[in-house]
Amino acid sequence: MALLEIRELHKSFGDNQVLRGIQLDVPAGSVTVIVGPSGCGKTTLLRCVNGLEKPESGRVTIDSTSVDWVSKPSKQEIHELRAKTGFVFQAHHLFPHRTALENVIEGPIYGQGKSREWAVGYGMELLEQVGLADRAGAFPHELSGGQQQRVGIARALALQPKLLLFDEPTSALDPEIVGDVLQVMRNLARQGWTMVVVTHEIHFATQVANQAVFMDQGQIVEQGDPQQVLLNPKQPRTQEFLRRVLDPLADSDAPFVSPTETSAVDAPAPLISSGEGHGVGGHA
Ligand SMILES: Nc1ncnc2c1ncn2[C@@H]1O[C@H](COP(=O)(O)OP(=O)(O)O)[C@@H](O)[C@H]1O
Ligand SMILES: [Mg+2]
Repeated sequence: MALLEIRELHKSFGDNQVLRGIQLDVPAGSVTVIVGPSGCGKTTLLRCVNGLEKPESGRVTIDSTSVDWVSKPSKQEIHELRAKTGFVFQAHHLFPHRTALENVIEGPIYGQGKSREWAVGYGMELLEQVGLADRAGAFPHELSGGQQQRVGIARALALQPKLLLFDEPTSALDPEIVGDVLQVMRNLARQGWTMVVVTHEIHFATQVANQAVFMDQGQIVEQGDPQQVLLNPKQPRTQEFLRRVLDPLADSDAPFVSPTETSAVDAPAPLISSGEGHGVGGHA
């Protein structure tokens, strides 16, 4: 059974139709990865799922809490929907003047009215789970970007949500610490968390996800088994996008001339190469 159901979701900013009829089911205990070009609406989709953005129409159901955006839902209904989700942002959104543990227990105590004693006990358990029990008293600036992001994950878990939403959780991190964060996420998947992850970590997606979705211009273009969608896509737009993700230089069809090669033939480097393809990217 689907834990998250999205039906005919439409969202515009002014004239900009950002989501154009999104339908998606995420089964309980499964991981769905969303990929797609910058600006195609991935962040907006996650924000609509938990009611941070208000769609014009469509329905979102999480674990039997359903919000129908056509019938102008109440604040209470939106709050109930949001309470079912935990959100992990692209860059760490920790409170700078609070320790790791204080960041984790803030939501349960002030948002949910849990006792401090309970929140500290559970918060320490979560910090342990993300490998940071020994840094509970550290302030965000004393932690690496990857550690901060793991505190961010613990903070999302502390609210005991039904559904975890990740918005490019590793894209702001140095390459060598990306793996630590992905490993924490893989462990969460193994524990049975239901997760929707916007990421361009294709290897992670094919290893951990149960479903992959390719979005472009506010629509789902292709979805299904991650191995198929990400490694053997059927749709030309998916193929084109993944080709660029896997080989960022794939589209620059101007022959690359290195400075050393140029000096070897003793000719000045051309400022502009002949033909249409020049410059970075080379696509119009
Ligand atoms: N708060 C906003 N106000 C106006 N336009 C927005 C807002 N948020 C996003 N957009 C626009 O919506 C489109 C999709 O943005 P976004 O969902 O952030 O894409 P992605 O996460 O796939 O890069 C972009 O054209 C962006 O400029
Ligand atoms: Mg985004």
